[in-house]
Amino acid sequence: MQEPVNKFYVTTPIYYVTARPHLGSLYSTVLADVAARWNQQLGKKTYLLTGTDEHGQKIAQAAAAANKPPKEFVDGFIDSFKETWRSYEIEYNHFIRTTDKAHIAAVQAWIKQLEAQGDIYKSSYTGFYCTPCETFVTEKDYLNLEQGKVPACPTCGRPTNFVEESCYFFKLASYADRLLKFYAENPHFITPPERMAEVLSFVQSGLKDLAISRTTITWGIPFPGDEQHVCYVWADALNNYISAIGYADPARAAEFNFWWPADLQVLGKDIIRFHAIYWPAFLMAAGLALPKKLLVHGWIKIGDQKMSKSLGNVVDPQELLATYGADAVRYYLVRHLAVTQDAPFTQEDLTTRINADLVHDLSNLVHRCMALAKAQSMAAVGEQQWTAQEDALQQKCQAMLQAFNRDMDACFYHRAYAGVWQFVHDLNAYFHAQEPWKVVKTDRAHFERVIAATVHGLYAVAQLVWPVMPQSMEKLLAMLGKTRQTGVNYYEQLLTDTWQQSFALTPQEPLFLKIVLPEPAKAEKEGTMENATALTPAITIDDFIKVELLAGTITNVEVVPKSDKLYALTVDLGPQGIRTICSGVRKHFTPEALLHKQGVFVANLAPRPMMGLVSHGMMLFGEDANGALQMVTVGAPVPNGTRLK
Ligand code: MSP
Repeated sequence: MQEPVNKFYVTTPIYYVTARPHLGSLYSTVLADVAARWNQQLGKKTYLLTGTDEHGQKIAQAAAAANKPPKEFVDGFIDSFKETWRSYEIEYNHFIRTTDKAHIAAVQAWIKQLEAQGDIYKSSYTGFYCTPCETFVTEKDYLNLEQGKVPACPTCGRPTNFVEESCYFFKLASYADRLLKFYAENPHFITPPERMAEVLSFVQSGLKDLAISRTTITWGIPFPGDEQHVCYVWADALNNYISAIGYADPARAAEFNFWWPADLQVLGKDIIRFHAIYWPAFLMAAGLALPKKLLVHGWIKIGDQKMSKSLGNVVDPQELLATYGADAVRYYLVRHLAVTQDAPFTQEDLTTRINADLVHDLSNLVHRCMALAKAQSMAAVGEQQWTAQEDALQQKCQAMLQAFNRDMDACFYHRAYAGVWQFVHDLNAYFHAQEPWKVVKTDRAHFERVIAATVHGLYAVAQLVWPVMPQSMEKLLAMLGKTRQTGVNYYEQLLTDTWQQSFALTPQEPLFLKIVLPEPAKAEKEGTMENATALTPAITIDDFIKVELLAGTITNVEVVPKSDKLYALTVDLGPQGIRTICSGVRKHFTPEALLHKQGVFVANLAPRPMMGLVSHGMMLFGEDANGALQMVTVGAPVPNGTRLK
């Protein structure tokens, strides 16, 4: 059968439901939504699948801890997922739950097929298991383990548990050669491509058959033909990508054949092994085509640690809504977190970026252009005679469009939108250099040309930015007298746009308003000790223990160029990681006097922007009788990261 080309099927991972979604969960989901919406801009029919992963030991344990039956426990979180996705404009086509009847039937059909063709056999598993990651930890993950020790999970680093149980195994090892052949023939299967190395090395070092059932837990899909077993949660969960669109349901064959294979599957780097090795092998066994591309993104971090519920450092996306609005948060996640890397999150950075990019660069330009046109009774844009300046601007727009399409296709969304913002800068530069507010006094045609060129540029920006900020860009399009239609290839249209479009201009209130966070205390802002001697009220021990004082060693000292006081210190806090901590002590210490010294740091100060950097803590000093600063130290060296009390 000829594969339909004008469709785009994209999936998010399905989320464990042990809590409400956090900013990390939103990140995977927004990336998938942006991919779907960009493909709508290419005129395609799209399908976005998301949902929840509800079986397995991790959920069963969390439910037991909450004193609830597992189904009742997971039911309690579903609305919070749906509500978060709704408020963040995630336009999913289906929300799958692995407790759905249709999913259960599809997984059981898959197992029966594999069993019938000899891909599954019964044996027993003796080894280690990581419950938070729901992973059987294989021997090659703990090659040099000392006798009697329990290995750490290779993904999350937490201790594993020893398990011994009867299991059904999937003959994963027999798929190794086919997998390697597939990777060789599809070098773009994983993006970013450098993540392929980890997958290749895992497969090349030899695959073991995979346990796909469990007998020591009961919260799972019953294994067909052997009710003592439930399906291993990853074998259950991965199949959601096909069960949702009708796999193994004869009544839905046309739907399944239309959408499968997935065009893009979005996932975090922690679950690459499951998606790039086990999942393709499962599909090969089922005789199905493999997904076209996996987008493997990095982690959002708080300081140096992954944002995760178990570390208790999660940011609730719902709490950001009131201050920032959904569009601005979406923009920040897509544009300022490089999809290829881990990235720290702070509200200060979020605020700075929104104010710079959305308020200063985009919203102000739209507002000035529209207000000026209105003041001069210019309600529409019609045909123009362009000059060299507008031709140059249009060429920049064309170059940006082509680079944008390439980057979006490679899923380098952060780079694609950096290119769009470069064009927004070009538009600003053009608009301000032309000084339309002055030329209107002497040359009406010139004035109208500047407004018209700016409006054409803004129109291109609105269409390209719509996938990330749908609501605001629909507002911008409305100001330009345009509405979006489905099934139109806007990218193609922009490529052939000769900038002779008509626009009806309707100014509205600004797209974005400046966000002001409460001012930090002045002394803290510059990292100085001034005013630190004022008497402060007594505190209780409970107040004191809120301050995390850690010993740490300075491993690098750099001068902060924009400041005459600040050093950027790289500080090794042992298990708490390596941090950048700014300190305003330049006139008291040379870099050499600080380097390799162990000092005392307040480690749980909220990250704070300082002169273009973000400081993740504060170093302590005391002032001696001569007014010179002395480092606060521990009497003798202690391990880095030691908490002082
Ligand atoms: N249930 C499995 C996925 C099964 S897919 C068949 C799972 N769930 S999860 O809830 O733990 O994670 C879901 C997704 O959220 C993963 O892609 C994970 O990488 C992502 N994130 C969770 N925390 C994250 C950050 N702090 N930053 C970015 N993404 C993060 O794994």
